[in-house]
Amino acid sequence: MDIIVISSSPNKDALTASCAAAAAEGAREAGGQVEAVRLNDLEIRLCEACDNGWGTCLPDHECQVKDDFQALHARVCQADACVVVTPVYWGEMSESAKAFMDRLRRCEATRGEESGLFGKPVIAVAAAGDSGNGMITCLLSMERWIEHVRAFKFDLIPVNRWSREYKRVAVREAASTMVREMLT
Ligand SMILES: Cc1cc2nc3c(=O)[nH]c(=O)nc-3n(C[C@H](O)[C@H](O)[C@H](O)COP(=O)(O)O)c2cc1C
Repeated sequence: MDIIVISSSPNKDALTASCAAAAAEGAREAGGQVEAVRLNDLEIRLCEACDNGWGTCLPDHECQVKDDFQALHARVCQADACVVVTPVYWGEMSESAKAFMDRLRRCEATRGEESGLFGKPVIAVAAAGDSGNGMITCLLSMERWIEHVRAFKFDLIPVNRWSREYKRVAVREAASTMVREMLT
């Protein structure tokens, strides 16, 4: 079982990273092969809304902005399941998560049941490390993204400074259960 854990914080040792590590641990523990990807290590630029608003994403399901997106797009479509962990910025996902997810959505959402994520389980984690505000609005947009790409919402997990210890356990368990269920 091939699981990709995507995180999107510039900090390598903070709340987002610890939730991503918990997801990877849980998935491995259940027998999954895990690849962890930090979007901040990659060059993934913004969608340029090419041409009349749709570029090659509509007819070809590929993005014409050439950078690290293409390899990760292919990698996500190849995986059996995905965990996306973002810090909450202004009640939304991080800019690096948004850039990647926007471009992936444009390529896959219009493919219907041919989407590379069709029916695949996704766990979305929103890590709000300051006031704790905005976890739900962040998860709302992640939920919409999961729906648009026709994936399966396995879980949506809000985490704040006060809940971090027990939510780390929940993230780990969610990833572990997701892999176990796929293996049965
Ligand atoms: C630009 C920016 C906006 C933020 N907005 C929020 C917010 O709306 N709610 C919140 O609880 N924390 C907010 N934070 C704090 C981050 O969610 C917090 O630092 C979180 O732990 C980030 O994950 P990290 O520590 O793993 O990098 C914000 C941080 C930044 C840099």
